Amino acid sequence: MRLRCEVNGESREVDDVWPGESLLYVLRERMGLPGSKNACEQGECGSCTVYLDGVPVCSCLVAAGQAEGHEVTTVEGLAEGEQLDPVQQAFVEKGAVQCGFCTPGLIVATHDLLERRERPSDPEIREALAGNLCRCTGYEKILDAVRLAADRKAVS
Ligand code: FES
Ligand code: FES
Repeated sequence: MRLRCEVNGESREVDDVWPGESLLYVLRERMGLPGSKNACEQGECGSCTVYLDGVPVCSCLVAAGQAEGHEVTTVEGLAEGEQLDPVQQAFVEKGAVQCGFCTPGLIVATHDLLERRERPSDPEIREALAGNLCRCTGYEKILDAVRLAADRKAVS
């Protein structure tokens, strides 16, 4: 089947999509957007999180056909050209990235949190990121990055 949708602000069209393909597969393998990661492919780890019509979803659980006519934003789409989004910048500065597998999903989830809450409390941050698993960092640096991004967004 042919899939048409908007990805990171651009109209995209992909042919020969098999109905069983996930949105994650199409983004990574057919659209050349490898930012979203495939770690569990079971909806457990959050590394594949993207926005679908502004709502964060695990793209490994979304059939590609469900994106037909809809808007997708991946971690690549949060930056403006060479300018990183404040959340991306904060993850870099705080060293919240080790192997990086969890990072794209955490960044999208954090971006969503900060769209909804200007200054989230630590429990609110933990709850918002509960679906995003990291095996490397111990989470402290991730929390530092979220706090830094929140501080910067609040004063900008
Ligand atoms: S790869 Fe989608 S939730 Fe883990
Ligand atoms: S940095 Fe490796 S899983 Fe999070």
